[in-house]
Amino acid sequence: MKGGVGQYSYAQNSSAQRQAVEAAKVLIKEAIAEKLDIKQVISSSKLFTIADLGCSVGINAIIAVENIIESMNLKHQSFGPNQEAPEFQVFFNDHVSNDFNTLFKSLPTDKQYFAAGVPGLFQGRLFPKASLHFVHSSYALHWLSKVPKELIDKNSPAWNKGRIHYTNSLKEVRDTYSAQFAEGIESFLNARAQELVSGGLMTLIMPCLPDGISYLHLKISDFLWIY
Ligand SMILES: C[S@@+](CC[C@H](N)C(=O)[O-])C[C@H]1O[C@@H](n2cnc3c(N)ncnc32)[C@H](O)[C@@H]1O
Repeated sequence: MKGGVGQYSYAQNSSAQRQAVEAAKVLIKEAIAEKLDIKQVISSSKLFTIADLGCSVGINAIIAVENIIESMNLKHQSFGPNQEAPEFQVFFNDHVSNDFNTLFKSLPTDKQYFAAGVPGLFQGRLFPKASLHFVHSSYALHWLSKVPKELIDKNSPAWNKGRIHYTNSLKEVRDTYSAQFAEGIESFLNARAQELVSGGLMTLIMPCLPDGISYLHLKISDFLWIY
């Protein structure tokens, strides 16, 4: 994604993705209220760790994290006034080439968390075992980690003729994209399964295309899925 805060930066051109982050707020609040057993997941250190995977730059990652913390604080307050509040540590992850400097400069000065950048591919391990309480990822998991070689091999039945999408393409092309995605999501889930504490939560927001529907006829609200 284009860094900085200029006219063509991701920070200035991601309002559609922001809608998704905002739509997920109520679901995150419900999940934390109903599914998270704070006393079980937080150790005696009272530290709650959050990772936003594929954070890019701009306000979206910050809004997402604030939504999680707000929901956590609400839940915590429901235990009564004498409970020691947890501290929050937030890990912002993206490719090594992400403009982390711009992201860090845009963090609110009065933020209620300790922030750190974690560079690297989220298809692999990024964190120690059982060290995360909440994983969040929005509009990032649909990116493939690499171009399958069959798509660029003129002698392959899945050659994609130089295109970078599969709309109206041969079945072989679609299957190749699909297999690459399956490999990536499996690696992602295996890594998170090790990194999340038992009882931790994960919110994955992804644009998806229902079978048989042309990408050209969809609005953003039609193909957004939140898990
Ligand atoms: C469209 S942006 C979404 C940014 C932000 N989450 C939001 O909702 O606005 C997708 C981000 O995911 C990152 N990304 C894609 N694949 C990734 C991977 N395998 N590992 C880490 N980051 C990845 C990209 O670099 C990009 O910054």
